[in-house]
Amino acid sequence: MSETLKEKVRQYWEQEPCGSSQQITGASDKGSIEWFKRIEEYRYNVEPFIHSVAKFTRHHGEKVLEVGVGSGTDHLQWARAGAECYGVDLTDAAIETTRAHLSIYGFKSNLQRIDAEELPFDDESFDIVYSWGVIHHTENPERIIREIKRVLKKEGVFIGMMYGRRSVLAFKLWLKHALLKGRPWRSFADVIWHHMESVGTKAYTVSELKELFSGFSDFSAKPLITPYDTSKWPGWLSKYFPDKWGWFIALEARK
Ligand SMILES: C[S@@+](CC[C@H](N)C(=O)[O-])C[C@H]1O[C@@H](n2cnc3c(N)ncnc32)[C@H](O)[C@@H]1O
Repeated sequence: MSETLKEKVRQYWEQEPCGSSQQITGASDKGSIEWFKRIEEYRYNVEPFIHSVAKFTRHHGEKVLEVGVGSGTDHLQWARAGAECYGVDLTDAAIETTRAHLSIYGFKSNLQRIDAEELPFDDESFDIVYSWGVIHHTENPERIIREIKRVLKKEGVFIGMMYGRRSVLAFKLWLKHALLKGRPWRSFADVIWHHMESVGTKAYTVSELKELFSGFSDFSAKPLITPYDTSKWPGWLSKYFPDKWGWFIALEARK
């Protein structure tokens, strides 16, 4: 059972690194500078708040590990900011795409395809561990969190994002896959598990996240309303959605 779920997650993300679908990249040639530019522009148009959460430029010269690099767009920002970059991902597709993404701009990173539930780094190796939208996809999120804490230096900081269950997007998924399918008893957790990206995706409340990160100090969790929440609602209505109903929960925690 364990092997199978992990393998399904891997196969899902091998098909296409996150954020590189043809809807985004249009007619540009795969791997070209134009292709990468479109991926980057789209990402920060849709998720502009990444910059204020990650604060890439404050970490010049620091040793940064990114867990789950995807297409490498945030990884490029760490490299541009002058961090010493390390990155891991479960898939070859993400590692190859990230390597190409950095190399097109003349940057390098130490990239490895591994399961982040076991990180191949010594204790207290990194100033920052960053992970945007990844930990909720793995079978045992608590294992990745334990590993992140282990590899962080004393006072090192984790920065990231995980999905929020009490969100407008979770409600929309429930409407589509539970209520409108005549199965209103299905829980938000169940529809997210089966219908959000790779199978086995989880989403949390702020207090559940507090518990998961209870081994850290100075923990903060800030929900953010995203375009994924507001899409399909009339603008006059969605502008009243408070951040606490957001699909993304931005996280910061100190070791
Ligand atoms: C939603 S994408 C996010 C990628 C990138 N951080 C971004 O924001 O675009 C999820 C990524 O997590 C990776 N992933 C899932 N489980 C993982 C694990 N156990 N170890 C390492 N990477 C994992 C997937 O391969 C995929 O690239």
